[in-house]
Amino acid sequence: MVKNQQQIARMREACAVAATVLQQVKALVRPGVTTQDLDEAGRDFMAALGARSADYGYQIGSRRYPAHTCISVNEEVVHGVPSLRRVLQDGDIVSLDVTVAYNGFIGDNALTIPVGAIDPRLEKLVRVTEESLAIGIKQATIGNRIGDISHAIQSYVESHGYSVVRDLVGHGVGEQMHEPPEVPNFGRRNSGPVIKPGMTLAIEPMVNMGGYRTKTLSDGWTVVTADNSPSAHFEHTVLTTEQGPEVLTVPPQ
Ligand code: MF3
Ligand code: CO
Ligand code: CO
Repeated sequence: MVKNQQQIARMREACAVAATVLQQVKALVRPGVTTQDLDEAGRDFMAALGARSADYGYQIGSRRYPAHTCISVNEEVVHGVPSLRRVLQDGDIVSLDVTVAYNGFIGDNALTIPVGAIDPRLEKLVRVTEESLAIGIKQATIGNRIGDISHAIQSYVESHGYSVVRDLVGHGVGEQMHEPPEVPNFGRRNSGPVIKPGMTLAIEPMVNMGGYRTKTLSDGWTVVTADNSPSAHFEHTVLTTEQGPEVLTVPPQ
Protein backbone atom coordinates (compact mmCIF):
# COMPACT_ATOMS: atom_id res chain seq x y z
CA MET A 1 0.00 0.00 0.00
CA VAL A 2 3.07 2.26 0.27
CA LYS A 3 4.93 3.52 -2.82
CA ASN A 4 8.65 4.25 -3.12
CA GLN A 5 10.06 7.53 -4.52
CA GLN A 6 10.27 6.22 -8.07
CA GLN A 7 6.70 4.95 -8.01
CA ILE A 8 5.53 8.26 -6.56
CA ALA A 9 7.30 10.19 -9.32
CA ARG A 10 5.45 8.14 -11.90
CA MET A 11 2.15 8.50 -10.08
CA ARG A 12 2.60 12.28 -10.22
CA GLU A 13 2.95 12.13 -13.99
CA ALA A 14 0.00 9.80 -14.53
CA CYS A 15 -2.19 11.92 -12.27
CA ALA A 16 -1.16 15.15 -14.00
CA VAL A 17 -2.21 13.60 -17.31
CA ALA A 18 -5.51 12.38 -15.83
CA ALA A 19 -6.25 15.88 -14.51
CA THR A 20 -5.38 17.52 -17.82
CA VAL A 21 -7.66 15.20 -19.76
CA LEU A 22 -10.49 15.71 -17.27
CA GLN A 23 -10.23 19.50 -17.74
CA GLN A 24 -10.12 19.09 -21.52
CA VAL A 25 -13.25 16.93 -21.58
CA LYS A 26 -15.01 19.21 -19.11
CA ALA A 27 -14.47 22.15 -21.45
CA LEU A 28 -16.57 20.38 -24.12
CA VAL A 29 -19.66 19.91 -21.95
CA ARG A 30 -22.65 21.86 -23.24
CA PRO A 31 -26.28 21.17 -24.18
CA GLY A 32 -26.51 19.12 -27.39
CA VAL A 33 -23.26 17.20 -27.05
CA THR A 34 -23.56 13.42 -26.73
CA THR A 35 -21.73 11.48 -24.07
CA GLN A 36 -20.10 9.54 -26.89
CA ASP A 37 -18.71 12.79 -28.34
CA LEU A 38 -17.12 13.47 -24.96
CA ASP A 39 -15.77 9.93 -24.71
CA GLU A 40 -14.15 10.04 -28.15
CA ALA A 41 -12.63 13.41 -27.34
CA GLY A 42 -11.30 11.97 -24.06
CA ARG A 43 -9.75 9.04 -25.91
CA ASP A 44 -8.04 11.45 -28.33
CA PHE A 45 -6.82 13.76 -25.55
CA MET A 46 -5.27 10.76 -23.78
CA ALA A 47 -3.57 9.60 -26.98
CA ALA A 48 -2.20 13.09 -27.62
CA LEU A 49 -0.51 12.98 -24.20
CA GLY A 50 0.88 9.48 -24.73
CA ALA A 51 -1.59 7.92 -22.32
CA ARG A 52 -4.43 5.44 -22.68
CA SER A 53 -7.67 4.80 -20.87
CA ALA A 54 -7.43 2.46 -17.90
CA ASP A 55 -11.21 1.96 -18.21
CA TYR A 56 -11.22 0.54 -21.73
CA GLY A 57 -11.45 -3.24 -21.47
CA TYR A 58 -11.42 -3.11 -17.67
CA GLN A 59 -12.89 -6.37 -16.49
CA ILE A 60 -15.41 -6.87 -13.72
CA GLY A 61 -16.59 -10.48 -13.66
CA SER A 62 -16.99 -11.50 -17.29
CA ARG A 63 -17.69 -7.99 -18.62
CA ARG A 64 -15.20 -5.66 -20.21
CA TYR A 65 -15.85 -1.94 -20.05
CA PRO A 66 -16.57 -0.75 -23.61
CA ALA A 67 -15.55 2.94 -23.46
CA HIS A 68 -12.68 5.24 -22.54
CA THR A 69 -14.33 7.31 -19.84
CA CYS A 70 -17.28 6.99 -17.49
CA ILE A 71 -19.98 9.62 -18.02
CA SER A 72 -22.96 9.56 -15.67
CA VAL A 73 -25.94 11.91 -16.03
CA ASN A 74 -28.43 12.98 -13.31
CA GLU A 75 -29.61 9.83 -11.46
CA GLU A 76 -26.66 7.87 -12.85
CA VAL A 77 -24.11 7.57 -10.05
CA VAL A 78 -20.99 6.20 -11.77
CA HIS A 79 -19.84 3.95 -14.63
CA GLY A 80 -22.27 5.52 -17.09
CA VAL A 81 -21.39 4.09 -20.51
CA PRO A 82 -21.07 6.87 -23.11
CA SER A 83 -23.61 6.62 -25.90
CA LEU A 84 -24.58 8.40 -29.11
CA ARG A 85 -28.15 8.32 -27.85
CA ARG A 86 -27.36 10.30 -24.71
CA VAL A 87 -27.63 13.96 -25.61
CA LEU A 88 -26.84 16.34 -22.75
CA GLN A 89 -29.69 18.72 -21.99
CA ASP A 90 -29.85 22.12 -20.39
CA GLY A 91 -30.45 21.50 -16.66
CA ASP A 92 -28.61 18.15 -16.44
CA ILE A 93 -25.70 17.45 -14.17
CA VAL A 94 -22.97 15.27 -15.64
CA SER A 95 -20.25 13.34 -13.82
CA LEU A 96 -17.04 12.77 -15.78
CA ASP A 97 -14.64 10.10 -14.47
CA VAL A 98 -11.28 9.96 -16.25
CA THR A 99 -8.79 7.21 -15.42
CA VAL A 100 -5.58 7.07 -17.44
CA ALA A 101 -2.67 4.69 -17.66
CA TYR A 102 0.61 6.47 -18.32
CA ASN A 103 4.07 4.99 -18.09
CA GLY A 104 2.79 1.98 -16.13
CA PHE A 105 0.87 3.98 -13.52
CA ILE A 106 -2.72 5.06 -13.14
CA GLY A 107 -4.29 8.41 -12.29
CA ASP A 108 -7.99 8.53 -11.40
CA ASN A 109 -10.18 11.62 -11.05
CA ALA A 110 -13.75 12.75 -11.49
CA LEU A 111 -16.03 15.75 -11.19
CA THR A 112 -19.64 16.73 -11.67
CA ILE A 113 -20.61 19.82 -13.63
CA PRO A 114 -23.82 21.54 -14.66
CA VAL A 115 -25.03 21.50 -18.25
CA GLY A 116 -26.35 24.99 -18.95
CA ALA A 117 -28.48 26.42 -16.14
CA ILE A 118 -29.42 23.98 -13.37
CA ASP A 119 -31.88 23.95 -10.48
CA PRO A 120 -30.40 25.52 -7.32
CA ARG A 121 -31.04 22.25 -5.48
CA LEU A 122 -28.73 20.50 -7.94
CA GLU A 123 -26.16 23.25 -7.54
CA LYS A 124 -26.17 22.60 -3.82
CA LEU A 125 -25.83 18.83 -4.27
CA VAL A 126 -22.79 19.36 -6.50
CA ARG A 127 -21.22 21.88 -4.13
CA VAL A 128 -21.71 19.73 -1.04
CA THR A 129 -20.23 16.72 -2.83
CA GLU A 130 -17.14 18.68 -3.86
CA GLU A 131 -16.79 20.06 -0.33
CA SER A 132 -17.11 16.55 1.11
CA LEU A 133 -14.14 15.46 -1.00
CA ALA A 134 -12.04 18.34 0.36
CA ILE A 135 -13.11 17.46 3.89
CA GLY A 136 -12.19 13.79 3.35
CA ILE A 137 -8.81 14.71 1.87
CA LYS A 138 -7.99 16.79 4.98
CA GLN A 139 -8.24 13.60 7.05
CA ALA A 140 -5.63 11.78 4.94
CA THR A 141 -2.83 12.54 7.39
CA ILE A 142 -0.14 10.23 8.76
CA GLY A 143 -1.33 8.31 11.80
CA ASN A 144 -5.00 8.81 11.01
CA ARG A 145 -6.97 5.80 9.80
CA ILE A 146 -8.96 5.32 6.62
CA GLY A 147 -12.15 5.41 8.71
CA ASP A 148 -11.36 9.03 9.62
CA ILE A 149 -11.67 9.95 5.94
CA SER A 150 -14.86 7.89 5.63
CA HIS A 151 -16.45 9.33 8.73
CA ALA A 152 -15.67 12.95 7.81
CA ILE A 153 -17.24 12.55 4.37
CA GLN A 154 -20.33 10.77 5.65
CA SER A 155 -21.04 13.20 8.48
CA TYR A 156 -20.66 16.24 6.24
CA VAL A 157 -22.88 14.80 3.52
CA GLU A 158 -25.57 13.62 5.92
CA SER A 159 -25.58 16.97 7.75
CA HIS A 160 -27.00 18.38 4.49
CA GLY A 161 -29.71 15.70 4.29
CA TYR A 162 -28.04 13.76 1.47
CA SER A 163 -26.74 10.19 1.53
CA VAL A 164 -23.46 8.52 0.59
CA VAL A 165 -23.43 5.52 -1.71
CA ARG A 166 -22.32 2.34 0.06
CA ASP A 167 -22.14 -0.12 -2.83
CA LEU A 168 -19.00 1.51 -4.23
CA VAL A 169 -15.94 2.87 -2.47
CA GLY A 170 -12.71 4.75 -3.08
CA HIS A 171 -9.49 2.78 -3.29
CA GLY A 172 -5.74 2.68 -3.41
CA VAL A 173 -4.40 3.31 -6.91
CA GLY A 174 -1.00 2.66 -8.49
CA GLU A 175 0.06 0.18 -11.12
CA GLN A 176 -3.50 -1.17 -10.84
CA MET A 177 -6.64 0.94 -10.90
CA HIS A 178 -8.05 -0.68 -7.78
CA GLU A 179 -5.56 -1.56 -5.04
CA PRO A 180 -5.92 -1.89 -1.28
CA PRO A 181 -7.02 -0.22 0.88
CA GLU A 182 -10.70 0.38 0.22
CA VAL A 183 -11.69 3.96 1.06
CA PRO A 184 -15.41 3.94 1.89
CA ASN A 185 -17.37 7.17 2.06
CA PHE A 186 -19.08 5.98 5.23
CA GLY A 187 -17.71 4.56 8.45
CA ARG A 188 -16.44 5.12 11.92
CA ARG A 189 -13.67 7.32 13.20
CA ASN A 190 -10.46 5.55 14.22
CA SER A 191 -11.27 2.41 12.21
CA GLY A 192 -9.59 0.71 9.25
CA PRO A 193 -5.97 0.71 8.06
CA VAL A 194 -3.55 3.27 9.52
CA ILE A 195 -2.41 5.91 7.01
CA LYS A 196 1.33 5.82 6.31
CA PRO A 197 3.49 8.10 4.13
CA GLY A 198 3.57 7.15 0.44
CA MET A 199 0.03 5.88 0.02
CA THR A 200 -1.79 6.96 -3.14
CA LEU A 201 -5.52 6.97 -2.48
CA ALA A 202 -8.43 7.61 -4.83
CA ILE A 203 -10.93 9.38 -2.57
CA GLU A 204 -14.29 9.65 -4.29
CA PRO A 205 -17.54 10.55 -2.56
CA MET A 206 -20.68 9.56 -4.49
CA VAL A 207 -23.57 11.54 -3.02
CA ASN A 208 -27.29 11.01 -3.63
CA MET A 209 -29.95 13.63 -3.05
CA GLY A 210 -32.27 10.82 -1.90
CA GLY A 211 -31.52 7.41 -0.40
CA TYR A 212 -28.14 5.67 -0.53
CA ARG A 213 -29.33 2.59 -2.41
CA THR A 214 -28.26 1.95 -5.98
CA LYS A 215 -28.92 -0.54 -8.75
CA THR A 216 -27.08 -1.45 -11.94
CA LEU A 217 -28.79 -1.08 -15.31
CA SER A 218 -29.11 -3.97 -17.77
CA ASP A 219 -26.01 -2.74 -19.65
CA GLY A 220 -24.13 -4.31 -16.74
CA TRP A 221 -22.25 -1.07 -15.90
CA THR A 222 -24.35 2.02 -15.31
CA VAL A 223 -25.01 2.44 -11.60
CA VAL A 224 -28.13 4.52 -10.85
CA THR A 225 -29.84 5.60 -7.66
CA ALA A 226 -32.58 3.15 -6.64
CA ASP A 227 -35.03 6.04 -6.08
CA ASN A 228 -33.97 7.91 -9.26
CA SER A 229 -32.79 10.88 -7.22
CA PRO A 230 -29.87 12.83 -8.71
CA SER A 231 -26.31 11.96 -7.71
CA ALA A 232 -22.94 13.73 -7.82
CA HIS A 233 -19.35 12.42 -7.76
CA PHE A 234 -15.95 14.03 -7.20
CA GLU A 235 -12.64 12.17 -7.07
CA HIS A 236 -8.97 12.97 -6.60
CA THR A 237 -5.91 10.78 -6.35
CA VAL A 238 -4.11 11.89 -3.18
CA LEU A 239 -0.57 11.17 -1.94
CA THR A 240 -0.09 10.91 1.82
CA THR A 241 3.04 12.64 3.14
CA GLU A 242 4.54 13.70 6.48
CA GLN A 243 3.64 17.25 5.43
CA GLY A 244 -0.01 16.32 4.87
CA PRO A 245 -2.13 15.14 1.96
CA GLU A 246 -1.07 16.20 -1.54
CA VAL A 247 -3.61 16.12 -4.37
CA LEU A 248 -1.85 14.55 -7.36
CA THR A 249 -4.66 14.98 -9.89
CA VAL A 250 -3.93 18.60 -10.73
CA PRO A 251 -2.93 19.79 -14.20
CA PRO A 252 0.83 20.62 -14.43
CA GLN A 253 1.81 24.30 -14.03
N1 MF3 B 1 -12.77 5.37 -12.45
C1 MF3 B 1 -13.60 4.45 -11.72
C2 MF3 B 1 -13.20 4.56 -10.24
O1 MF3 B 1 -13.16 5.65 -9.79
C3 MF3 B 1 -13.51 3.06 -12.22
C4 MF3 B 1 -14.07 2.87 -13.58
S1 MF3 B 1 -13.93 1.23 -14.03
C5 MF3 B 1 -14.82 1.11 -15.45
O2 MF3 B 1 -12.87 3.66 -9.55
F1 MF3 B 1 -14.58 -0.06 -15.91
F2 MF3 B 1 -16.09 1.31 -15.19
F3 MF3 B 1 -14.41 2.04 -16.28
CO1 CO C 1 -12.60 7.24 -11.09
CO1 CO D 1 -11.62 5.63 -8.43
